[in-house]
Amino acid sequence: MHLGNLLAMPNNISISTDSAELEQKAIELANKLNTSFASLKPQQIQLVLTQQHIEIRAPDLGNPIFIDFEQGKNAHRRQFGGGRGQPLAKAIGLKKGATPTIIDATAGFGRDAFVLANLGCQITLIERNPFIATLLEDALNRAQNSPEISDVIKQMSLINHDAIAYLNQHRADVIYMDPMYPSREKSALVKKDMRLLHQLAGADTDSEQLLTSARKSAIKRVVVKRPKSAPFVGEQKPSTSIESKNTRYDVYLTNESLSHPTKDPTLLS
Ligand SMILES: C[S@@+](CC[C@H](N)C(=O)[O-])C[C@H]1O[C@@H](n2cnc3c(N)ncnc32)[C@H](O)[C@@H]1O
Repeated sequence: MHLGNLLAMPNNISISTDSAELEQKAIELANKLNTSFASLKPQQIQLVLTQQHIEIRAPDLGNPIFIDFEQGKNAHRRQFGGGRGQPLAKAIGLKKGATPTIIDATAGFGRDAFVLANLGCQITLIERNPFIATLLEDALNRAQNSPEISDVIKQMSLINHDAIAYLNQHRADVIYMDPMYPSREKSALVKKDMRLLHQLAGADTDSEQLLTSARKSAIKRVVVKRPKSAPFVGEQKPSTSIESKNTRYDVYLTNESLSHPTKDPTLLS
């Protein structure tokens, strides 16, 4: 992982470990993330190195959270998510067999990126929060050795950077973004891991700016994931929207792709 800016880092998260053997590694990680190493403190949010993985522990979290591409929700979505017919894939433009290059500008826990990599796309994950990026990097490293998904993981590369700055320098066929929606964390229905993501990363107050940069950088389209009833980001009306039960994908086709429609067979999908 390329470690980019550390500006978005909350400074109250320390690094710890539950294993004396891993103490040196934990201290090195604390130095890399520009934060402190501490003993286990159950009343605080900590990134904890264990023999199995790196996890987040927080007082009101219950079980610790770590990212696992091999099992749990990611494995379930890989098997039963609906392949190229699922709304996310349609919004990206995979319906007619295309496999565009993708920048996921808001990687988070990498779930959507993993779905798209499973469908054959080459995807660059951009995550600006260094703690979330560390969890992601750890999960990608572990999954690299999995006989079942190592090929999928090869399609994913992670960069710890602010996507607005990154997109000024880089392009891809599709830019995907799923910024934190302000009201998400207030609902009792919001899962603990999403609440934690919000606690760690804060509200994404610059998503309008991100959309503007994404629309300049994308070769074919920008796809924005929103809760179904949420307004368009920055009141920018999309070319089309694809809806699923609770989610809406707003698709912004670029002028470039609209002026060469025959070059993009997925445009009307
Ligand atoms: C709702 S989460 C994304 C969840 C993700 N789609 C998934 O499937 O796990 C939003 C994430 O985007 C990150 N983010 C928001 N704006 C960003 C930006 N400009 N650059 C990089 N990361 C950003 C936040 O730190 C947060 O981790």
